[in-house]
Amino acid sequence: MISNLPALVIAIDGHSSTGKSSFAKAIAKELGYTYIDSGAMYRAITLFALREKIIIGEHVDEERLAEAIDLVMISFVRNNESGKIEMHLNLENVEDEIRGIKVSEKVSVISKIGFVRRKLVEYQRKMGENSSVVMDGRDIGTVVFPNADIKIFMTADPLIRAERRFKELHEKGDNVSLQTIEHNILERDFIDQNREESPLCKADDALVLDNSYMTPEEQMVWFRNLVSGKYKLELS
Ligand code: DC
Repeated sequence: MISNLPALVIAIDGHSSTGKSSFAKAIAKELGYTYIDSGAMYRAITLFALREKIIIGEHVDEERLAEAIDLVMISFVRNNESGKIEMHLNLENVEDEIRGIKVSEKVSVISKIGFVRRKLVEYQRKMGENSSVVMDGRDIGTVVFPNADIKIFMTADPLIRAERRFKELHEKGDNVSLQTIEHNILERDFIDQNREESPLCKADDALVLDNSYMTPEEQMVWFRNLVSGKYKLELS
């Protein structure tokens, strides 16, 4: 356990499907911090655009999206039964739908649009302004919170990432092939790293965590050691 920690902003960035959300959630739970999943926001906007036929194939009608984006309501809502935080789009629970392959296949096209990013970054900064927050994404340590107290950049072997995602989706009844998932992961890495607006890159002061061969428990040990070393704390 870590105790006596000052209020911090913890930024977790990295490649797709490296378990950023699970890691960030575990950290938030341990520290009693708020966890914010910035990817869920890009996913919700993507779902909205798909439903409204603003995305057709690879084409995005940016003019219509620009008109609509201020009217889209996205919010994180705690589920009273499970206690989990879920994404709502215009008051509808879309938590499962935004994780499916249809949204995953289009989310990089939406998240490279400048006005979408500016809108969501503003929202993310507002959510994190009172500190004691763990936020994960692609540009948290570089753009959203360049002064974050702790920055972590996560990566893992693409095939291992695809296998993890495959298991997760199949458990939910989504029978997508391993090959499709691996292709989607590599494509998202490429688009995320090569887009003009806030490309995915490691902040100079971020620490790299390659979790290809690490269990969630080992990742938490790594984190506890990092924090206790940095803030000269005793672990109990
Ligand atoms: O973390 P995730 O896989 O749920 O994110 C979905 C997509 O959203 C990802 O392909 C890139 C984009 N994204 C982004 O561009 N910036 C963020 N801060 C978070 C996500």
